[in-house]
Amino acid sequence: MSFQPPRGTDDILPPESEAWRRALAIWDEWARLYGFPLVMTPIFESTDLFERGVGDTTEMVTKQMYTFEDQGGRSLTLRPEGTAGVVRAYIGAGSPGVWKGAYSGPFFRYERPQGARRRQFWQVGVEYLDVESPRADAEVIELAHRYLSEVGVQGLELLLNSLGDRKCRPGYVEVLRGYLRDRSSDLSEQGVELIEQNPLRVLDSKADGPKLTDAPRSADHLCDACAEHYATTKALLSDLGVPYTEDPTLVRGLDYYTRTTFEYVSNDLDASQNAVGGGGRYDGLSESLGGPPVPGVGFALGLDRIVLSTEAPVGSGIDAYLVSEAGPDDALRIASRLRDAGLAIDFDTEGRSVKAQFRAARRSGSDITLVWKGSGRVDVQSEGDRLELEVEDVPGWFKERSG
Ligand code: HAM
Repeated sequence: MSFQPPRGTDDILPPESEAWRRALAIWDEWARLYGFPLVMTPIFESTDLFERGVGDTTEMVTKQMYTFEDQGGRSLTLRPEGTAGVVRAYIGAGSPGVWKGAYSGPFFRYERPQGARRRQFWQVGVEYLDVESPRADAEVIELAHRYLSEVGVQGLELLLNSLGDRKCRPGYVEVLRGYLRDRSSDLSEQGVELIEQNPLRVLDSKADGPKLTDAPRSADHLCDACAEHYATTKALLSDLGVPYTEDPTLVRGLDYYTRTTFEYVSNDLDASQNAVGGGGRYDGLSESLGGPPVPGVGFALGLDRIVLSTEAPVGSGIDAYLVSEAGPDDALRIASRLRDAGLAIDFDTEGRSVKAQFRAARRSGSDITLVWKGSGRVDVQSEGDRLELEVEDVPGWFKERSG
């Protein structure tokens, strides 16, 4: 009998996992530079958090949730996204005013697995709460841009739209409903049902969305305040040098969005799964979860897709492999000294032959091998070059080399 990972999930193992470690490390650094501290919320939440937050007519809630009853009879759901949980945590902390949080972790959606569409996938993201200004929108969009650029996503493009707010959205929704009623004979059964319940969701449904390219667009129905917010966001992005493409068909699949919505796509990925991230403003979410009216903006980026669309060289994760000609006890001691000086070292604990240790060094993928001679000196071997150094000079040599 052999076990496989469940359908749509992956074991992320070396050497590929090194690209993940790099992507997560770069994320931590950019989140810190923009002043977002770490927040960690549970992997499962009560099911109605997502029904109310994400919306009970969205595909995410009706079709994609991993929902189960626990032994106490509570209905729980593996988190399909992070925003609802973070806003719940913010309300639970007493809605403490302007607040920032960055997160990373696994998320779960029952989708048809294909390429970079997984049932367990990894997101990194931020939520910025109690901020109304388009400067906050521009700031988080710039953070995503810088991160995705540094990580090395190929063919990156930012798509931008505005969905209006509770003042102008109802008018737009009525116009859209009229348009959809006229076309109801072309729509799926579920699409027809959604015309009355939540017509925006017809636009992003997989079955009907592609047939509706001439549908009325939210950006043409904004009230003055939303139009100004949108115009300012675009002007700020231009000032910051973040290129964008307006996409009036971008409605996103979650109900909580108001005003700015955006998606980052990688034009190098398969078109059906090319969104490497998405986000926007959600000024009504806190209230719909029973909290006070608190505006917010944020995004989440999909690491599975990011790693797939980067061409960064995958290193071995160590600075050098240590071979000992004087036995494994020496190796343990020397490795400890080198690690203390900040070098990432691997070695053989099992006392294998020098030949076997060299084989392990090659398999490690590191381009540098240190050979401990037992006399206080090591041979530094790298791509055919050879140099003898005192052990205490090895860290300095690495520093100079990385310049
Ligand atoms: P989302 O667009 O549903 O937004 O997901 C964000 C990103 O997660 C997607 O662009 C994609 O890269 C990745 N992703 C989603 N589903 C899958 C999947 N099945 N397999 C692989 N990757 C996937 C949200 O989740 C919102 N919470 C974002 C947000 C934060 N809005 C405001 N704040």
